[in-house]
Amino acid sequence: MSAPIANSIRSTPWPGTHSDEQASLSLEGRSVELPVVVGSEGEKALDISRLRTGTGFITLDEGYVNTGSTTSGITFLNGEEGILRYRGYPIEELAARCDFIEVAYLLIYGELPKKPELDAFRHSLSNHSMIHEDMRSFYNGFPRDAHPMAIVGSVVGALSTFYQDSLDVRDPKQVEVSVHRLLAKLPTIAAYSYKKSIGQPLIYPRNDRSYCENFLEMMFAVPCEEYEIDPDFAKALEMLLIVHADHEQNCSTSTVRMVGSSDANLFASISAGVSALWGPLHGGANQACVQMLEQIVADGGDVKKYVELAKKKGSGFRLMGFGHRVYKNYDPRATLIKATCDKLLAKIDRNDPLFDIAQQLEEVARADEYFIERKLYPNVDFYSGVIYRAMGIPEQMFTVLFAMGRLPGWIAHWMEMHQSPTKRICRPRQIYSGETCRKFVPLDQR
Ligand code: ACO
Repeated sequence: MSAPIANSIRSTPWPGTHSDEQASLSLEGRSVELPVVVGSEGEKALDISRLRTGTGFITLDEGYVNTGSTTSGITFLNGEEGILRYRGYPIEELAARCDFIEVAYLLIYGELPKKPELDAFRHSLSNHSMIHEDMRSFYNGFPRDAHPMAIVGSVVGALSTFYQDSLDVRDPKQVEVSVHRLLAKLPTIAAYSYKKSIGQPLIYPRNDRSYCENFLEMMFAVPCEEYEIDPDFAKALEMLLIVHADHEQNCSTSTVRMVGSSDANLFASISAGVSALWGPLHGGANQACVQMLEQIVADGGDVKKYVELAKKKGSGFRLMGFGHRVYKNYDPRATLIKATCDKLLAKIDRNDPLFDIAQQLEEVARADEYFIERKLYPNVDFYSGVIYRAMGIPEQMFTVLFAMGRLPGWIAHWMEMHQSPTKRICRPRQIYSGETCRKFVPLDQR
């Protein structure tokens, strides 16, 4: 490492306060007092850590819909009011005033960087952006039609084979080196996966480019001609990475924490997060949204027909990119990137009918009582899919870009978990519902 970035990670998770309130639970003649924990924004939880020893019962919560897995001081979101803050700073302010690297620093170290800290951080990330030359040969082994998320997950996991000097999870210096390596190398790993899929030569990163410029160049440049970076594309990418940088205990972040809880190294934990994000129920929604828009175009472009179909009970069709499990007011990230989306669409050559269809769909759905009543607004995936399309990013790379954006959040959560004095390996329980004890039947009698 060229320069010290920060002596140690400064963020310590806020443990929450045990209030005077308690819940009393009596079950089968045994009772237990369950303390109430209150977060810094007034959110309340029942601390059930003594439940099983006190009563013999466990809780059952499929999909963890009511289960807090941890206290965390990284991201606050309030879906009813449409609030999203990283380390206490509103997403709107961060998106307007920071670039992605500054936001990554904030998430990981807990504070906005001072100028020398930010300079050193940027410098370190530039210096780590190449991947080991032998790793390039991995790309020759993957089938040409492999999904880039499969390649990215594998190569990120394989970083632990090449960078064995930064695997000790208890050594803060080694952790910091692995954090910088990951942030620096993921755009290179991601762009190589795309170049591989289209049979073009892999383009080396350049240290004189910003993080987003560098990625665009590695994606789209070819060695035989100069590549001109479109500053609006680089800016749009900054915005998209920032709004995706963290979203508290989602599926991939919880996966990173779960894997990391066994003291698996950071590369292995992040590789697991990439795999979790790959699923269409998590990171794949923007791709699904663009595919739906393509379908509407191919079917003659009758937007109203699809809006009616989405409203029809039992049709099984939903407008992709509308509605959100948590945000029941509006998705603050969608508001931010809508402006970026409108700007890009006004600028690019509009001979792709998909963009007109996207705008028509947004207008029709937003004015429709069904969507208004149910608070179904366009979500972040609606606009991000359209922006990526406008930038010429191929569909199968959408989730890879999501992973690049989410990386600082994954890292911040992994580190927060390791710093927690109450860290334990994650090991949920279950209610067994299979066969009770059976008599073994020998093979010749089955
Ligand atoms: N199109 C049409 N109707 C919808 C839609 C939609 N996109 N989303 C919800 N509804 C309707 C439901 O049919 C239901 O109607 P009803 O009350 O008459 O039965 C009502 O709105 C509530 O829907 P739920 O499924 O209960 O809402 P939930 O919070 O469980 O689902 C979800 C949220 C999964 C995001 C949903 O809105 C959806 O499927 N949207 C499309 C997929 C999508 O865009 N996903 C990306 C989300 S953003 C992200 O993950 C980063």
